[in-house]
This record gives sequence, C-alpha cells and structure tokens, in this order.
Amino acid sequence: MSERHFLDILDYDRSTINHILQLANQLKSETVKGNWSDCLRHKSLGLLFQKPSMRTRVSFELGMNQLGGTSLVLQNQEIGIGERESVSDIARVLSSYLDIIMIRTFEHSIVTELARYSSVPVINGLSDFSHPCQALADLMTIKELKPNLAGLKLCYIGDGNNVCRSLFHICKLFNISFYHCCPAGFELPDDGVVVSDNIDNALQNADIVYTDVWASMGQEAETAKRLQLFKDFCITSELMAKANSDAVFLHCLPAHRGQEVTHDVMESAQSVVFHQAENRLHAQKGLLVYLLENH
Ligand code: CP
Ligand code: NVA
Repeated sequence: MSERHFLDILDYDRSTINHILQLANQLKSETVKGNWSDCLRHKSLGLLFQKPSMRTRVSFELGMNQLGGTSLVLQNQEIGIGERESVSDIARVLSSYLDIIMIRTFEHSIVTELARYSSVPVINGLSDFSHPCQALADLMTIKELKPNLAGLKLCYIGDGNNVCRSLFHICKLFNISFYHCCPAGFELPDDGVVVSDNIDNALQNADIVYTDVWASMGQEAETAKRLQLFKDFCITSELMAKANSDAVFLHCLPAHRGQEVTHDVMESAQSVVFHQAENRLHAQKGLLVYLLENH
C-alpha cells in the first residue's frame, strides 16, 4: 500500500513518521498564533463511522476546521457500508466529492477496499486489526516526555488488539523495546514482541506502561468471559511501583476504571492519559497536512 493513504504504521518508514510528527509539533505550538488557519482551505474531509467514537471524531473534525477546511460526519445508518451500497461504489462516489476520507470500521479489509477504489487519501481511524492514528499520538506523547527514545522499554498489559498492534509497530520502527503481558491466548502474534504472562518481570525497568480495554468494540458479547480471564492483569498502583520510578502510564481511552486500570493509577501523577488524548488532535492535523499537501 502506498503512502498516499494512512492505513497502517507498517506502510510508513521512520523518516516519514518523524516528518508527520514534526508537522504535528509545529501545529501544536503555532495554532494559537493563527498560523496554518488557512492551509487546508477548500479541502473537505469525510468521516465514516461504523463504531462509536469521541476522540477520533472530535479531533479530526476540529482539526480540519482549525486548518481552514471542512468536514462531515457520516454515520453508518446513513451509508450502510456493504449493505445499502458496496464499499467500492461508496469509495468512488465519496472520493469524487471529498479530498480525503477517514473510516472507522470492523474488518480491516473494508479499509483496504475503500483505499483501493478511492481516488483520494484514505485514513484508517480504527479497524479490528489496527489503530495507526492512536499510535501516532502515542509516539508524539512518548517523545515529548522521554525524548531519548533509544533504550526505552514499553510494557503493554492487556489484550493483543488493534491498539496494541499499532503501538508495537511504531515502537519497532523507533527501537523502543516492546513487552506484552496478557493471559494465554491473547498475545500479539507479530515477530519481535516479547510476550510474558509474568507481570512483575515485564514491568521491571519499564519506562512506559500502557493498557487498553479488555473487550473492544464488536466484542461486547465476550465481555463477561474476558473480565474473568483478564482479572489478574489490572494495572494497580502496586504494579506501577514495579516499573521505573519515572515511568509514565498511557491509555488510548475510553478507560474502564476497576477493570484494566484502577481509578488511582488513572489519577496518579504518572498518568499522562489526557496529555496523550490531546495529542490525537495535533498528530492528526500533522497527518492531514502531510496527506493533503503531498498528494
Ligand atoms: N482512543 C480513541 O480512538 O478514542 P475514540 O474511540 O473515542 O475515538
Ligand atoms: N481496542 C479498543 C480501542 C478503542 C479506542 C476498541 O477497538 O474498541
């Protein structure tokens, strides 16, 4: 897949991700001055949702607005992706109206099919497979807090899901050691992940501790079973104390306090989850400028 779209971290190299994040940093510091407020004038972004969202929707919609462009949200009840109309027809019609399209969906094949038939860039705003926009904001946050990436250790405790996968891919690209801790059967199957069911060992010398929900959107029917299987993997203050004393806690949000993380950890001085959530806006603005200015 070409860099014309943003479907997965794996399609990108380190220098392009660095370039997008440089744009993001510039946009973050210069937006208040009014610079960039015209840079995507007359450009339009379509946001297609088959799953709920708060951060992704608001950050893309507002980000486009702050850059002088327009956006429109299309919920699946209106579009009927693959039901009312085929993905390939939707792609061709929407890309004749819009300059860029974001989609949040279930099967990753819907994202890739949309991209194949779209004449404008397509952004993966989360599929069951990956969440690359989240990984961009995660790396931006890590770089701000721990600029010397070489030698960092990240310990992800929880389900080997879409967020975990994109985070692993971006860590791999930037040489951040990635440890995944989960119950048997929920491991990320990718090469290069250090998998452990021993939380104490995985947290030793960790600089970053990360988690996500145990049951993702679309897995609601498995919630009770997953709560039982993951019950020993809740991130508590006692567990955080096993990581480095200056370790930070990240979560893509929404969080389920009392499940994957305690209220105390969420509210602790080590928690940077709201800083991380804010960076979704800046990172995606960098991505929009990159995709629309270069193609
Ligand atoms: N982290 C994230 O993608 O949040 P939303 O589901 O609210 O967009
Ligand atoms: N893994 C979660 C992430 C939500 C942002 C999900 O897919 O529901």
